Amino acid sequence: MGINWDEQAQQFSSDHYRTTRGQTRLLVLLDQVESVLPSFPISIIDVGSGPGHLAIEMAKRGHFVTCIEPSSSMRTIMRETLDNCPKAVTDRIHLLDANLQGASQAVGGQGYDLVMCHAVLMYLPDLASSITALTGLMNKTGRLSVVTRNKAAQVFKYAERSDWNSVLGALRGERSEHPLHRAHAIQELQEELDRNDLDLDIWYGVRTFTESYADDTLGQPDEELLAAEIMAAKMSPYRDISHLIHLMARRR
Ligand SMILES: C[S@@+](CC[C@H](N)C(=O)[O-])C[C@H]1O[C@@H](n2cnc3c(N)ncnc32)[C@H](O)[C@@H]1O
Repeated sequence: MGINWDEQAQQFSSDHYRTTRGQTRLLVLLDQVESVLPSFPISIIDVGSGPGHLAIEMAKRGHFVTCIEPSSSMRTIMRETLDNCPKAVTDRIHLLDANLQGASQAVGGQGYDLVMCHAVLMYLPDLASSITALTGLMNKTGRLSVVTRNKAAQVFKYAERSDWNSVLGALRGERSEHPLHRAHAIQELQEELDRNDLDLDIWYGVRTFTESYADDTLGQPDEELLAAEIMAAKMSPYRDISHLIHLMARRR
């Protein structure tokens, strides 16, 4: 059984995003996505937008954002946040009840300048069809921004629990079919990009230093911590064992 996002929505939205770990993740992703944004408004689709933290930040910067979100509780939380945003921001956001598989149909086949899909693929059973569906949402010059769990970091989590069967399986290159422990290696992500005629622009590691922060460490990261996360995100060996992978790709 997978995660029931209607039940998890409140906790994910408030608890995760209140922690220093969650705040750091948001600021690091913002920095990385902003590095490819032009100064003029573009069209963005955020697939599995959840409570909409990143989508709303993009709309605040003048971009037009379509949010695809299958959980009604997540959509309700996002609408509550939008109630407190200026009209100019909410007018730039279009929130749709759909999932990745039905996203293209929900938007009438439109292509977008930037397709974001953050922290969703690790909950879906089939990476290949997910990347193909995301590719179908990109326009000719569009970019793709995908965040998923890093398999290398997941191996250390298995080891902490002395789950040596899973450690050995991961070291042998076997895919974890456990719906809560799915994670991806950059190599298998790159294979799926290749299959869809996408080129990898850059990949980052996210939650490099903050992954071990306790759940009750709350609030914004201080300046040095944020600078360290942003810097390590591009550097091996740090990014290789970061909790999350953030890749950016474009059409060949
Ligand atoms: C961990 S949350 C991430 C939310 C947001 N992208 C973020 O980074 O804060 C995962 C989200 O994926 C959504 N989701 C689950 N299955 C999905 C699917 N098949 N297509 C699109 N979104 C899905 C869930 O409802 C949930 O809002």
